[in-house]
Amino acid sequence: MNYHKVSFLASYGLLKQIPPSSKIEIAFAGRSNVGKSSLINKLFNRKGLARVSAVPGKTATINFYDLDDTVHIVDLPGYGYAKVAKTEKVRWAELIEGYLNDESRSMELVVLLVDSRHPATRLDIDMIDYLIETEKPFIIALTKMDKLNKTERQNRLSSIADEIPCGGDITIVPFSAETGEGVEALREIIEEIASY
Ligand code: GTP
Ligand code: MG
Repeated sequence: MNYHKVSFLASYGLLKQIPPSSKIEIAFAGRSNVGKSSLINKLFNRKGLARVSAVPGKTATINFYDLDDTVHIVDLPGYGYAKVAKTEKVRWAELIEGYLNDESRSMELVVLLVDSRHPATRLDIDMIDYLIETEKPFIIALTKMDKLNKTERQNRLSSIADEIPCGGDITIVPFSAETGEGVEALREIIEEIASY
């Protein structure tokens, strides 16, 4: 797989705008500001591919990227940003759920991003419950690992599995867009899915 062959395809703000597709899709989901866009940029070595912002709620659309004509990468809007208007929250929730519930698509993996600096939030746990209930394949990327010191890191890695439902059975990848930790692990997982 050529990770440099990545290109932006399209952004959609409404579910009905998303065209049907039979391509393998890997979706990235997580709380607003958790580092989804940064992770995507790091994974594909392209600084400006996905818009990064210190202001939460930047990605308000579903964004599709093509990876080497093989897999479509799907950047979902971040959930749980308090300052967004209720109507916007409803629209985002509809987009995320509507996309994930669309059985006609070949969505092969959800990479759920969880901030390593805090315990998983209620919304993270709701999302994990939803993914388990609907039998979606998913893994967790623990983001911003560079912000933890050695002790915090050890504590985080040992407690995360106890905080989340079925924690012991879920693949957890520590990740940092700063240091590149976790990039290889995620790429290997993507390669495996792409080679089905
Ligand atoms: P929304 O699109 O608003 O949902 O946010 P997002 O999840 O796409 O987050 P984004 O990648 O825009 O990053 C949010 C902020 O966190 C930015 O200020 C990033 O620079 C910072 N950030 C993201 N990943 C990392 C990381 O691995 N380490 C550090 N130190 N900062 C990070
Ligand atoms: Mg984003």
